[in-house]
Amino acid sequence: MDVLQAIKARRSVRRFLRKEISKEILDTFVDAIIWAPSAGNLQSREFYFVFNQQIKERLVDAAWGQDFIAQAPLCIVGCADLRIKNHYGSRGSELYTIQDVSASIQNLLLEAQEQGLASVWVGAFEEAEVSEILNLPKYLRPIAIVPIGYAAESPLPPKRVKKEDAVIIVK
Ligand SMILES: Cc1cc2nc3c(=O)[nH]c(=O)nc-3n(C[C@H](O)[C@H](O)[C@H](O)COP(=O)(O)O)c2cc1C
Repeated sequence: MDVLQAIKARRSVRRFLRKEISKEILDTFVDAIIWAPSAGNLQSREFYFVFNQQIKERLVDAAWGQDFIAQAPLCIVGCADLRIKNHYGSRGSELYTIQDVSASIQNLLLEAQEQGLASVWVGAFEEAEVSEILNLPKYLRPIAIVPIGYAAESPLPPKRVKKEDAVIIVK
């Protein structure tokens, strides 16, 4: 698929079929994640692939009842690795690592699209609860939960800002 076509066709989907994801497709997700750019190529990020139903249901509670999280066969939790601070100080831990994780997640959403699956980036959750549920080490901060599966809905594209409102040309 053409990249811009995939970017425009991707939608946040919040209803999923009960259909498993093959090992081959899961491998493409791992590639999409690790080949994203990162600050200093330090790759200050880790991803938890959650298949366990009980854990997904606990993630629903941590995300204030967003129940589609437990409907998806897979939930990927993207975490910032705060040890980047040793290299880049607070700019590293407060900014670069968030960007590292986000670059991987965007790659992941597009790869899911390419593979005929759907996803949604979930940012509204209680961080401390997610850390406890996944027993995260202190140096990992959960940034996003991404439920992925086969779509059971086809949402219309939400509006975007006008091009001239998004981009300022500096000549
Ligand atoms: C940082 C971030 C946090 C988000 N958090 C949530 C969330 O907690 N729950 C949810 O349903 N969607 C969430 N979304 C998805 C947005 O609502 C969605 O991307 C937006 O409405 C545009 O729709 P589209 O993705 O279909 O283009 C989040 C997206 C981003 C980038």
